[in-house]
Amino acid sequence: MLFHRRWWVTYLLIYLLADQSESCSHTFNMMINFKVNRKLLVQEDVKFGLTSELFNTLKRGTTLVEYSSPNIAKKFHAGHLRSTIIGNFIANLKQSLGNNVIRMNYLGDWGMQFGLLGAGFGQFGCQEKLKQNPLQHLFEVYVQVNKEAEHNEDMKQAARDFFRQLEQHESEAVSLWQQFREITVDEYQHIYKRLGVHFDIYSGESFHQDQAQEVVQQLQSQGLLKTSEKGTGVVDLSPAGDMSSVCTVLRSDGTTLYITRDLAAAIDRKAKYHFDEMIYVTDKSQENHFHQLFHILLAMGHSWADRCKHVPFGLVRGMKTRSGEVVFLEDVLDEARARMLHNMSQSKTTKEMDNTEDTAEKVGISALIVQDFKGPLLSDYTFDWDRMLQAQGDTGVFLQYTHARLCRSVLAQGDLFKWMLSQLAGGVSIFALCDLYSYDEVLYQSAQDLQPKHLVNFLLKLCHLIASAHRELPVKGSSQVVAQVGRLIVQSVNPYHTRH
Ligand code: ARG
Repeated sequence: MLFHRRWWVTYLLIYLLADQSESCSHTFNMMINFKVNRKLLVQEDVKFGLTSELFNTLKRGTTLVEYSSPNIAKKFHAGHLRSTIIGNFIANLKQSLGNNVIRMNYLGDWGMQFGLLGAGFGQFGCQEKLKQNPLQHLFEVYVQVNKEAEHNEDMKQAARDFFRQLEQHESEAVSLWQQFREITVDEYQHIYKRLGVHFDIYSGESFHQDQAQEVVQQLQSQGLLKTSEKGTGVVDLSPAGDMSSVCTVLRSDGTTLYITRDLAAAIDRKAKYHFDEMIYVTDKSQENHFHQLFHILLAMGHSWADRCKHVPFGLVRGMKTRSGEVVFLEDVLDEARARMLHNMSQSKTTKEMDNTEDTAEKVGISALIVQDFKGPLLSDYTFDWDRMLQAQGDTGVFLQYTHARLCRSVLAQGDLFKWMLSQLAGGVSIFALCDLYSYDEVLYQSAQDLQPKHLVNFLLKLCHLIASAHRELPVKGSSQVVAQVGRLIVQSVNPYHTRH
């Protein structure tokens, strides 16, 4: 009889349990007789787990994932970091499962902050500083201008004027805005690279300024636009149609809002990229925003809005660096590296290496990611440098440590295939293998609810198994399990392994 590998393992487990536990052998009054093709069980498989028949029913197609989406000149907060790594996980997962994935960053690159920046740059800005450290300098200028505008009416007026010039596409204003934007994107690209994250498209709110006005006209012609008592343009979302719940899409001065631009952006993306599904990744405070967005799109007759999804996540408390509150993503990454370097220098087991900084960076970032991915996305959690960087326990450090150890044993010992076969029928290795073969189920679960916790907890569990295998089996013996596990870990969480 030919069984799928996953079933063999299940049967083998029954067999082993029945065989090893005298006391419960009487409960097995049925004899299962089968042969295990051990060779097949441990054979290498490049697309390990991904070719499982479990995935046959999954819909494939084009998936647009929008994530990260920071706001130019404003603070990059923990929510943006979460969106970046969670969105990247979802994009990698979808891609692994055979979807055509479009990775999009939707920058907050429009709005009054540019009025303020544009108006204030002449006074507080410096081209040299802008080139050297763009994110920091733009933020400094932004903070200074805001302070000034608090008590200086002229500054406020100048900001309004600058933004109006932008909205009217006046070339001088536009070219300054463009410079701010380009410089910011360059800088971000650099930092995303450290996280193993990339985007196919850098879009942004600015792209949909004009289209947003068209959306308002469409809403009007469809009879969906109402005028509120305050003179704003609203869409009635109440089931009874009594305006008890409305969404504002137009200010009384005729300018559009965040949601109006999102409506335009969604329609534009559908027309350009023909996605089969679109996923937005932001913190849970925007749940209502996306609920309203999908609702209005459906009301406008865009039935594909049913295939748009918001993946919300909880808040992170206390993300601080030694110098205080986090303003820039780079600071968090630098701090992770510095703390890891320190821990490595303190640890007696740290080996001599040439690329200490690079190792500290990779391990530190893994720690950051694993801390974030362990629990359900919707839960809030408290950021804790010490806990997340522990070498023991369920951390990214432990995961990378196991991975490194596996790589070393595989490389150092070459082919121990035969030995593995002889050991297979008993001991820890079989349990490690059993677990390994539930990889497709784990991926399937993640594909269903888009939660990274299934995969991360699976890997952490495997690492514990491997640790006991290393303890209990002769060192040489773990080779094949090791090879599979090593590949798995590399394929799954290691942020430096992105497939383009
Ligand atoms: N820039 C926004 C913010 O920082 C997030 C954008 C989310 N995406 C969207 N399509 N609205 O809050």
